[in-house]
Amino acid sequence: MRENVLLIGGGGREHAIARALADSEADLYACAGNKNPGIARIAAGFDTLETTNPKAVVDYAEDVDATIAVIGPEAPLEAGVADELEAAGIYAFGPKEEDARIETDKAFQRRFMAENNIPGCPDFETFDDMEAACDFIDEYDGDLAIKPAGLTGGKGVKVIGDQVTAEEGKEYIRESDYDRIVLEERLIGEEFTVQAFVANGEFRTAPAVQDHKRAYEGDEGPNTGGMGSYSDATDELPFMTESDYEDAVSIIEATVDALDDYRGILYGQFMLTTTGPRVVEFNARFGDPEAMNTLPVLETDFLDVLTAARDDDPLPALSFAEQATVCKYAVPEGYPTDPESGAKVRVDEESAGDALLYYASVEERSSSGNQNSSSSDDVDERDDGIYTTTSRSFALVGVADSIAEAEEIAEDALAVAGEEGLRVRHDIGKADLIQRRIDHMNELRGE
Ligand code: AMP
Ligand code: GLY
Repeated sequence: MRENVLLIGGGGREHAIARALADSEADLYACAGNKNPGIARIAAGFDTLETTNPKAVVDYAEDVDATIAVIGPEAPLEAGVADELEAAGIYAFGPKEEDARIETDKAFQRRFMAENNIPGCPDFETFDDMEAACDFIDEYDGDLAIKPAGLTGGKGVKVIGDQVTAEEGKEYIRESDYDRIVLEERLIGEEFTVQAFVANGEFRTAPAVQDHKRAYEGDEGPNTGGMGSYSDATDELPFMTESDYEDAVSIIEATVDALDDYRGILYGQFMLTTTGPRVVEFNARFGDPEAMNTLPVLETDFLDVLTAARDDDPLPALSFAEQATVCKYAVPEGYPTDPESGAKVRVDEESAGDALLYYASVEERSSSGNQNSSSSDDVDERDDGIYTTTSRSFALVGVADSIAEAEEIAEDALAVAGEEGLRVRHDIGKADLIQRRIDHMNELRGE
């Protein structure tokens, strides 16, 4: 039976979800705040709306007779879009507002881990008195991570001893007007992500991915939403063992067991430390960019996972192609602190060659005015095209037998895009940086 699937969200992650559904028995509809040109081309319908407005989403879902909805980003989850869809009788693959707190409230997340004895939880304290937090920093023996309790798009965390000194950390706390923060033990090691498809008390995991949060090459600069990521042809990454991966999966299992009827993606961000994987955070959705590593190698029909979840059937076993992936985001010059928009995107899905192109925060301008609601009526013919906005613009993904080959495929496509108005972390997926990760883990382990 064909399904009308409504996809919510307009970033690179959602473009990857759209592609994963494009060849299935799904009629795809999409809605987002921005008209993602890649999704719009795949979907049978696209509505530009505020995805944190549950009523607007439900109205569109009803208009298109959606039988399943897939929620990509965290903001609509926090706004209760899954709850409202369910109230309207539409199955949402994405947790309800209450369950999404595992991502949207970091204080809740740590308490939840502690109360349920979920392994891998760092020492933590929650504060709503910012001076008390500063005193805690003074008294604590060791470095701490400072985390606003609410959502910050991955950009609110400051790690003492890494990005800031204790004094700078206290200044940050005093100058920001956060209501609540978590201070937690600084974890040292290498980060990786494991995403799980969860429904009806069951889960299925995807291969590990490593994202690169820092803005500049060599892991320098401010935190971003993620500059790019890679995965290997196996479940684990070159700096991990198979048993490290399995330990992370056990933490996910304990979390799924402790959650009551969670559905959607559970994303575990882990730090591989000398004592094994510890939890940096959980997210209630696919990672962006990590979805662009995972979905292109998913051989199981994603729609089969969605319908099994909805119909309370056992989730299908997932099959992933034994291929490595490298994803690199092109971001606007100045991102994330002072981004400059308006650069023309010079690569498209055809000129990307062997690479997969995923659009994120771009706008399509057309002189006919019918392509994008945000285009002005008086742009002339020369202005037609796709332009950057102030957030991550587009990603290029190579898929191949090895990380090195996948990296080359992504770079070849980036060369077509050129550098004008854009910035890319070319070091992602390159042998040098991967070797540094391996050396770092060996050094920590005293090998
Ligand atoms: P989050 O928004 O929780 O993903 O945090 C952003 C980044 O801050 C993570 O990807 C880590 O690099 C870093 N971070 C968060 N918590 C910790 C921690 N407890 N120890 C060390 N680094 C952390
Ligand atoms: N790549 C990090 C995130 O999606 O939160």
